[in-house]
Amino acid sequence: MFGDFPLSDKIILITGGASGIGFALAKLAVESNAKVIIADLKPSPDSTSIVEAHETVRFSRCDVSKWADLASTISFSVQEFGDVPDVYAANAGVPETERNSFWDDNDEERYSLLDINLSHPIKLTRLAIRALLGKNKKGVVMITASIGGLEGHFSTALYCAAKHGVIGLIKSLAAAEDEAGVKVVGICPGPVRTPLMATVENKLSRTGEKPTFLEPEEIAGRMKELIELGRYRGGMALGVYRPGHVEVVADGSTSALEAMCPPDVMAVRRLIATERSI
Ligand SMILES: NC(=O)c1ccc[n+]([C@@H]2O[C@H](COP(=O)([O-])OP(=O)(O)OC[C@H]3O[C@@H](n4cnc5c(N)ncnc54)[C@H](O)[C@@H]3O)[C@@H](O)[C@H]2O)c1
Repeated sequence: MFGDFPLSDKIILITGGASGIGFALAKLAVESNAKVIIADLKPSPDSTSIVEAHETVRFSRCDVSKWADLASTISFSVQEFGDVPDVYAANAGVPETERNSFWDDNDEERYSLLDINLSHPIKLTRLAIRALLGKNKKGVVMITASIGGLEGHFSTALYCAAKHGVIGLIKSLAAAEDEAGVKVVGICPGPVRTPLMATVENKLSRTGEKPTFLEPEEIAGRMKELIELGRYRGGMALGVYRPGHVEVVADGSTSALEAMCPPDVMAVRRLIATERSI
């Protein structure tokens, strides 16, 4: 049983932690007595202030689309705080704009949005599991998905495809909590007042009603609950679509697919055993 996992005295790595939801989580984690690594493309005035104000916060420059950068954030934690992170918030993300969209189709070789919004949380989750097993400690992976991971949206189809992808990852890794001691969970916010949302507002209908925006602090509060409370199990995602609203929107603990095609748990257990330090 994984149990409660208070943030106090833990190390939390937050990608995209310099702005918006990630920054709100960084602030809350500092207030909760955690050590914090903000990993982002560049520092923001907010992230610089928090690093300067607290001995327990560091900034790590990182492009999450580069796997070597992701791995470096974990070595950075060892160097700065003497251990690998306990909590990995795969939160960095980009909106779907004319530059990277399904409809404008301006990417040349590959969908750059998928590298950031889909491959990065997948790879960071795998790195987190390996790092935690290597230290034989429990940990949490907290992925920022979206309501777009559960519902479709015609003008931002690629963004929704990526967010549906991370929901599939979270559900598939429900058993990692018991098998590897790593709880993988996700948050699915509705529209949140951040720079990202400001960029996509022009993708919304001019004639439709404006969405009711959530504040990043409310999302960060729900993320903290997901990380800390044992009653939120691995494989779960919480939807927070309007201020004051919260519901479990995904739960990987039962899978019709696994009932039809039982997974090869023994093969994964053997891998886990080779990665676990004893
Ligand atoms: N704002 C919303 O309405 C909303 C709703 C649902 C989900 N989300 C998700 O929340 C997460 C955070 O978004 P936000 O709204 O706080 O936006 P934001 O723009 O305020 O923050 C995103 C952060 O990610 C960083 N980032 C982008 N590309 C990066 C890269 N390659 N490497 C490292 N960092 C990178 C940015 O520099 C920025 O600091 C995203 O995953 C987003 O998809 C946002």
